[in-house]
Amino acid sequence: MEKKFTVSSFHEAKMAGDKISMLTAYDYSTAKLLDDAGIDCLLVGDSLGMVMLGYEDTLQVTMDDIIHHTRAVARGVKRAMVVADMPFLSYHISAEESVRNAGRLIQEGKAHAVKLEGGRDVIDKVSAIVKAQIPVMGHLGLTPQSVNMFGGFKVQGKSEEQARKIIEDALLLQEAGVFAIVLECVPEKLAKIITEKLQIPTIGIGAGKFCDGQVLVIQDMLGMYSDFKPKFVKQYAGLSHVIKDAVKTYAKEVQEAQFPGNEHTFTINQEVLEKLY
Ligand code: KIV
Repeated sequence: MEKKFTVSSFHEAKMAGDKISMLTAYDYSTAKLLDDAGIDCLLVGDSLGMVMLGYEDTLQVTMDDIIHHTRAVARGVKRAMVVADMPFLSYHISAEESVRNAGRLIQEGKAHAVKLEGGRDVIDKVSAIVKAQIPVMGHLGLTPQSVNMFGGFKVQGKSEEQARKIIEDALLLQEAGVFAIVLECVPEKLAKIITEKLQIPTIGIGAGKFCDGQVLVIQDMLGMYSDFKPKFVKQYAGLSHVIKDAVKTYAKEVQEAQFPGNEHTFTINQEVLEKLY
């Protein structure tokens, strides 16, 4: 069996200068496909609130939502590391509650690590979770759980003050023991400075090519939405067209009684059949 990707692999990748590939996943069959394709790490992001549940933002996602989806993803992987997002308010109230919630994602969700958003404001929670032997991934820059404080989904770290704060937060998180940091929607050259300053890997999303790894939301990179594409997303497939075309053909064939064909149906012995009339 292939060697599993773990927190040690994150460290080894940074030392060797190897890039880390990460995608979101929220269900068993997608996780299995991504794992088979050789992705290093799967994130059960709270983005599931938007792309799977149709919410406007990530704030309504609950611990039970994340646990439910993480269990499904964990069942689908053999090699990839599974990181579960800590949802809004699951790590803001006290260190004790944060450890308990992070522990649920490991014990009930079967995640290998947790991710949470923020720097100095949550550093005591990060330390407490790491002390409980739960690996933590940090997340700085455009942290979607702070969307109301930011006044929208906006690029962060463009001013000197904002940029310095993000650099300081990254160093604080490293000191508190996180094994990697997601940098979301920050200027490429700021992500480069942070990446060079840290001994732990940075994983970029909208943060340019100098990060130690990249993460994208699976629906975005597969082109499952034809109406919306953030600037930082590269679509590697156009699944919305593929799916819609397939469904249109299916509906037409059902209406025209072309499906199912003989090759899709089961037969019965003629003698048995005659007794039924
Ligand atoms: O929830 C999520 O999908 C994330 C990624 C965008 C990094 O946090």
